[in-house]
Amino acid sequence: MKFIVCENYDEMSTKAAEMYKNLINSKPDCVLGLATGDTPKGTYKKLVEYYNAGEIDFSGITTFNLDEYYPMKKDNPQSYNWFMNENLFSLVNFKKENINIPDGSTDNPEEFCENYDKKIESYGIDLMLLGIGKNGHIGFNEPDDQLITGTHVTQLTESTIDANSRFFSADEQIPTSAISMGMVSIIKNSRSILLIANGKGKHDAIESLKDNKINPQIPATLLKVHPDVTIICDKEAYFG
Ligand code: F6R
Repeated sequence: MKFIVCENYDEMSTKAAEMYKNLINSKPDCVLGLATGDTPKGTYKKLVEYYNAGEIDFSGITTFNLDEYYPMKKDNPQSYNWFMNENLFSLVNFKKENINIPDGSTDNPEEFCENYDKKIESYGIDLMLLGIGKNGHIGFNEPDDQLITGTHVTQLTESTIDANSRFFSADEQIPTSAISMGMVSIIKNSRSILLIANGKGKHDAIESLKDNKINPQIPATLLKVHPDVTIICDKEAYFG
């Protein structure tokens, strides 16, 4: 794993967006893995700036998002589908048919997950963007004794439900389940992985990536088996 430690959130976001820009400009039909949450918002903002400046073209790009709440309608402003439209998709020139996000309204989640994995495997992901939970989760692969390999429906832990409650007003139900790419879906199908993290709250999770131990109670540690992982984080996440 390669660590790049930045002064602050802005520098982290710029460095991450530059990695994406370089990839897209050298391979205009590349496949991107994308995440939601607070961490990538700055990266997406920079990508939109590059697009507006005519420095980047998304028309040939295919995307696969990591996760979505389940059940969740696409047009619900709390959905990850909505988040991606608001922060990136509707602001640049992706082709709608090239965007893939787990379907939170499917009646048959098992079949959906199997097909999502097959599609990811057939495309391969050139660069997978990941955030990290305070508890070390990746996507919604939550701490457990055993982790599920492929895309699956999962129960969220109390810590994740707590962390996500900030996005919901009190009278709305905070989702307790989600569809998530599995750790093996991510590791097996991504040529390169970029994990971004900022703030003291992520320090423990980042610290667990510095040694050579793998522990399913900290799902991010599984990324250590992947040969090409870059972690771009700020000083607070790195040093605490
Ligand atoms: C989001 C996702 C989550 C987040 C993680 C960090 O698609 O998969 O694993 O990356 O919860 O969230 P933020 O960035 O809000 O701290």
